[in-house]
Amino acid sequence: MNAIIKKTLSAAAILGGFSLLGLGLTSLTFHKTEAKIQENERQALLTNLKAVIPESLYDNDIVNDTIEVSDLNQGLSKPAIIYRARQKGTPVAAVMTVVTPNGYSGNISLLVAVKTDGALTGVRAISHRETPGLGDKIEIERSDWILAFDGKSLAMPKAQEWAVKRDGGHFDQLTGATITPRAVVGAIKNALLYFKHNQVRIFSTTESTPEGGN
Ligand SMILES: Cc1cc2nc3c(=O)[nH]c(=O)nc-3n(C[C@H](O)[C@H](O)[C@H](O)COP(=O)(O)O)c2cc1C
Repeated sequence: MNAIIKKTLSAAAILGGFSLLGLGLTSLTFHKTEAKIQENERQALLTNLKAVIPESLYDNDIVNDTIEVSDLNQGLSKPAIIYRARQKGTPVAAVMTVVTPNGYSGNISLLVAVKTDGALTGVRAISHRETPGLGDKIEIERSDWILAFDGKSLAMPKAQEWAVKRDGGHFDQLTGATITPRAVVGAIKNALLYFKHNQVRIFSTTESTPEGGN
């Protein structure tokens, strides 16, 4: 083998080695970033779950006691997750991931926590694209409007009063913004009705697989 070919081959080998090293490092960084994102999402979920349902109410691993249902958020292809809270094995509450498409700027995602007696323990807006200063006041960081649902049920106020005051209902709208609160009130009412009609199925289903039916 002459000297030029030898040099070319060793240069190619070195280049190949660096490429592989680069590829390995990129993949390692990707996996670390993925793991970090997943951990951050898990922490955010835990914080939100703690906000909507007092930890003293349950003793199970609520994050892993879930079912997926395809009939809660109708019209959406992605199933909704329901977290189930139990005390010594007895169902005490469910936290539903509720999405309404009726926001001013599209989908609004909520966590809606309801006890087996039908009373809400808490609601939080977890994602939306509503306007800063107007519709974004559904966020607990912007105003305490969302706290108006604590303790409410389909019995109090009555089912027909589950609307904003502008529509003759019980709940305040936001100043200059009625569309966002109207969407949130409607979505919570739907979730309460869903829970009422599906409570037995929600707690008796053992697998975390998409469910159908009503
Ligand atoms: C730029 C812009 C952004 C708006 N953003 C929102 C919003 O995020 N949520 C909302 O309910 N209304 C929003 N509105 C107001 C609605 O168009 C509508 O006027 C209002 O919801 C009706 O409430 P009102 O009857 O209390 O005025 C926005 C209006 C404008 C011009």
